[in-house]
Amino acid sequence: MSSFHSTLFFLAILIYATHAQNGLILPLRKDPKTSQFYTTFQMGSNKEAINAVIDLGAQYLWFSCDNYTSNTYAPIPCGSAKCDVAKGIGCVGCNLPPRPGCTNNTCGASPFNPFLNVLVSEGFAEDTLSSRDNRKVPQLIFSCMGSDYLEGLAKGTTGMLGLARTEISFHKQVAGKLNLPDKFSLCPPSSGLGKLSIGYQASPKSDISNLLKSTPLIINPVSTAPIYTEGDPSDEYFIDVKSIRVNGEALSLKNSYFTIDKNGVGGTKISTIQNYTALHSSIYKPLTRAFDKAASDMKIRSVAAVEPFRACYSSDSISKTRAGPDVPTIDLVLPGNDIYWRISGANSMVEIDRKTMCLAFVDAGSRPRTSIVIGAHQLEENLLEFDLVSSQLKFSSSLLVQNKSCSRI
Ligand SMILES: *[C@@H]1O[C@H](CO)[C@@H](O)[C@H](O)[C@H]1NC(C)=O
Ligand SMILES: *[C@@H]1O[C@H](CO)[C@@H](O)[C@H](O)[C@H]1NC(C)=O
Ligand SMILES: *[C@@H]1O[C@H](CO)[C@@H](O)[C@H](O)[C@H]1NC(C)=O
Ligand SMILES: *[C@@H]1O[C@H](CO)[C@@H](O)[C@H](O)[C@H]1NC(C)=O
Repeated sequence: MSSFHSTLFFLAILIYATHAQNGLILPLRKDPKTSQFYTTFQMGSNKEAINAVIDLGAQYLWFSCDNYTSNTYAPIPCGSAKCDVAKGIGCVGCNLPPRPGCTNNTCGASPFNPFLNVLVSEGFAEDTLSSRDNRKVPQLIFSCMGSDYLEGLAKGTTGMLGLARTEISFHKQVAGKLNLPDKFSLCPPSSGLGKLSIGYQASPKSDISNLLKSTPLIINPVSTAPIYTEGDPSDEYFIDVKSIRVNGEALSLKNSYFTIDKNGVGGTKISTIQNYTALHSSIYKPLTRAFDKAASDMKIRSVAAVEPFRACYSSDSISKTRAGPDVPTIDLVLPGNDIYWRISGANSMVEIDRKTMCLAFVDAGSRPRTSIVIGAHQLEENLLEFDLVSSQLKFSSSLLVQNKSCSRI
């Protein structure tokens, strides 16, 4: 009898441990029209399916509550401890009949649609999230959003899921509620199904972890959020790119573009909502020149530019590899011995039509806030693990090089 008990007990620990290790896994899909990546989960007592665009730079989850009914929905009251954690601003009320998104004495939220560049006045609320494998995250804090403010979001999505470094960002809340370490990983697909996994383990099925390189996540001392308090650091993810190489050769660039100054200007961040990597003009121009030269050395033929791209080539002069078109490699060189993020053809080139491919980087002009914003096209089929316990980013570069992909890890 006692051995039966201890077996059960042991089994319970084992099941718990497997869950704890796997974390919460959500699907990631790409919307080809906008290059946005979105995920799907269920919210509330009626398990309403929500499709939300993921945004590494956004502070929390918001979605349209127009059709939302749930008897576990609860507004966050003004002045409550949770309102403090959420950094709620003011107190909002509503003169219409009560429903989700319309309650009195509610902690003020300002959900932001980056595609419209608008902040909307709403209130914070909480409700239960369920995943497809029926894991539940109770009392997840989010905000409703007026359905007039969904413009710019991928078709079929009604919200955005914020993964920035805040107390109420999606990963932080999920990890906290499920007792997992504050880590999340992202494997955005070019097609098919990728993964967003919270609390580890990105790839329990395969040996991918020994392909990953690691680089510190650095803090920009000045907030990049649409509203913030003076003195707040940025809650976006910056890495310390030191130089850029094309086919192994470093571009000659001023170091000041790569560093972040006291006003928060400069440096490199990662964005899931910027379609193509955007570079300061003074980086963009030397990069395209060096790429053009290296491409011409490989007998790749230039053709007329196609806006917004400046370096375009005839597809039939480019051979194919497992990791896309065979073009000069671009490396983002990071601190440490031989640590770099390699951008191969599938991530560096975009197909315009059957005959034309262009270098998939855009010119951000001569005064961008951030010198390098690594965008969605460059993230496809790359595994990224954000470890906020040790403040490290682990990255794979293109999985295609290893004959792997986000849908197969
Ligand atoms: C709410 O439901 C209506 C009717 O099904 C639909 O037309 C509308 O798009 C939905 N709104 C949102 C924001 O999902
Ligand atoms: C909010 O309070 C006002 C004033 O008491 C009341 O008229 C209104 O119906 C309330 N709204 C909700 C959503 O409960
Ligand atoms: C990239 O996104 C911008 C801003 O949303 C949009 O104006 C532009 O058309 C997109 N570029 C391409 C090539 O799709
Ligand atoms: C690549 O992976 C696929 C599917 O896992 C496998 O069938 C194929 O043999 C692999 N190709 C090479 C060259 O390793």
